[in-house]
Amino acid sequence: MSELKNDRFLRALNREPVDVTPVWMMRQAGRYLPEYRETRATAGDFMSLCKNADFACEVTIQPLERFPLDAAILFSDILTVPDAMGLGLYFETGEGPKFKKAVRTEQDVAALPLPNVSSDLDYVMNAVKTIRAELNGRVPLIGFSGSPWTLATYMVEGGSTKDFRHIKRMMYETPEVMHALLDKLAVTVTAYLNEQIRSGAQAVQVFDTWGGVLSGPCYREFSLKYMQQIVDGLIREHDGRKVPVILFTKNGGQWLEAIADTGTDALGLDWTTNIDEARARVGGKVAIQGNMDPCVLYAGPERIRAEVEDILQRFGNNPGHVFNLGHGIHQYVDPENAKVFVEAVHELSAKYHA
Ligand code: CP3
Repeated sequence: MSELKNDRFLRALNREPVDVTPVWMMRQAGRYLPEYRETRATAGDFMSLCKNADFACEVTIQPLERFPLDAAILFSDILTVPDAMGLGLYFETGEGPKFKKAVRTEQDVAALPLPNVSSDLDYVMNAVKTIRAELNGRVPLIGFSGSPWTLATYMVEGGSTKDFRHIKRMMYETPEVMHALLDKLAVTVTAYLNEQIRSGAQAVQVFDTWGGVLSGPCYREFSLKYMQQIVDGLIREHDGRKVPVILFTKNGGQWLEAIADTGTDALGLDWTTNIDEARARVGGKVAIQGNMDPCVLYAGPERIRAEVEDILQRFGNNPGHVFNLGHGIHQYVDPENAKVFVEAVHELSAKYHA
């Protein structure tokens, strides 16, 4: 495998010195880019884009051609895992993801097969290999998965939800059924991420998008516990290099100490917690990735630069910061504003690394 030409993302995750703060954006490949919409139209639909390694590679690289990003993220989706468990993922235009089958009962959970990640999800592994070859050491490639809790919300609800009606009923009424499902998912996600690492992913991120809808005790019992299981089971070194893991719980600001205690290398931070306070609480233990409100990108260049400066200044002269948005970039953002953001991080952070 080729030498990395830019490893500041991996160095920052290991809390090593860097020349400038590395930056990437969650959902950096997506609908806000006209070239993405064009490739998706050529592919036919979203899943065809994910299942064709050349298309997936093309859209992964698109944001890197526009902005000086310090990492690429595999183009795929968290819902490939439940799809491989036989639930039949499809996307209704304008309505988000849906499953043909929802998981509601003890029998449904018992009947769920554990997928063979290298054959049932071979298209993901092929995409990882193709992207690594195409990157040729330009920047590291991030692999990812949903957390067991977040995947379970889609599987039990049968798609996106605002009220978490079915999954919370399962959790409170039949916790043993909930645990059986989460345990199957933790085993599968661990194998899935390890196969991505063997295929060439150089860091991995677990998206716990919905952990923040839980009470403190339920977060520990139904979300964090299974991310802990994943952290414990991951390959932490591959090809002579550490493979850092990032845990991102959206709205998880109250639980940063507990997340850091899992042994993760880094935690993802949304914009609702100040990054200086987060660093004071856990910065001695883990790197922090975040945390600009993605909506700042609706404002003009001056406001964007001021927000970048504020976050950099809060983090200060300390190791272990990966700059990112606090959640995915929105589809209506002007790509020119994303460019202002990424360039500002490099330009304004140099003074903190002198
Ligand atoms: O970050 C990247 O650039 C890599 C690609 C990526 C996608 N989804 C592509 C995608 C990643 C990392 C994801 C993760 C994902 N998917 C999450 C966790 C991250 C988060 O945002 O919290 C979740 C919850 C999903 C589930 C999902 N997939 C939803 C809810 C949707 C619909 C979104 C919408 O606004 O319609 C998707 C589809 C999806 N995944 C799109 C993309 C680019 C849009 C599909 C399209 O092109 O029409």
